[in-house]
Amino acid sequence: MLLAVLSQKGGVGKTTVALGLVGSAQRAGLRTLVIDLDPQANATLWLAPREIPLSASDVLADGRPGIAADAIVRTGWGGEIDVIAADAALSHRNSVGTVDDAYRLRRSLDTVTHDYDLVVLDCPPSMGELTRNGLVAAQSALIVTEAGYFALRGAQQAVESAQIVSSALNPDLVTAGIVVNRLRGRSKEQDFRLKELREVYPKLLLEPPIPERAAVQRAQGAGVPIHRAGQGGRQVAERFDAVLTQTMRRSRDRDADQSVASGVG
Ligand SMILES: Nc1ncnc2c1ncn2[C@@H]1O[C@H](COP(=O)(O)OP(=O)(O)OP(=O)(O)O)[C@@H](O)[C@H]1O
Ligand SMILES: [Mg+2]
Repeated sequence: MLLAVLSQKGGVGKTTVALGLVGSAQRAGLRTLVIDLDPQANATLWLAPREIPLSASDVLADGRPGIAADAIVRTGWGGEIDVIAADAALSHRNSVGTVDDAYRLRRSLDTVTHDYDLVVLDCPPSMGELTRNGLVAAQSALIVTEAGYFALRGAQQAVESAQIVSSALNPDLVTAGIVVNRLRGRSKEQDFRLKELREVYPKLLLEPPIPERAAVQRAQGAGVPIHRAGQGGRQVAERFDAVLTQTMRRSRDRDADQSVASGVG
């Protein structure tokens, strides 16, 4: 499954959710590739690869079929987790180009992703060319939000962007769901926004939300998965396990529906 993690709004937890799911995938023994599409390179920093011979911006600049294979490196997380790293030069590739440019990442990944059970694309906080390339390469879009007004508007825009890419550029793409991150205990405003989300997106909302925990930032600072952040990270890690299971199930159901529709399988 190729999963793009996105939101229009910055700082809501895209990278935290993307790599939370990678921690879950590692626990489940899934061979996983992370593609960091954000010039801030937060996912790359957290995964701590030892060397970066080629970055995601080199891959996009080249664009030849299968070239992404040359940019895959091992991460500091060990066992089965690889990355195509981001660098600051990616920011020069975020203005929307031609329709053909939208397929650069997808083409570069040609056959490369067959070796993986899961490919996670961490998108930047904008709907520019980098996120567009991510959505064109992906099969599933996972939208991250916080339970606040601006974040919810950003989530709605991300849902719409995924729908536009799905109908115009990539019919393989489905919206896997919306994850609410960083839920604090006892907030009337958050309760209200969560209720609103449940009403507007009864099918898309993945429950339960991810709570706010100091262990998340500890894990990021230490360059380890949340699953290795001790007792404080346990509840968050378990929520990510549930989100991964739900997302993979939706992807499999979609594949089954399609093979029934086309008479295959
Ligand atoms: N569940 C959580 N508990 C505690 N802190 C969190 C949680 N989720 C995210 N954070 C913190 O919030 C900040 C933003 O998270 P993150 O970098 O994952 O967001 P992002 O959406 O990827 O941001 P950007 O838009 O800049 O890419 C980080 O400092 C992260 O450690
Ligand atoms: Mg991020």
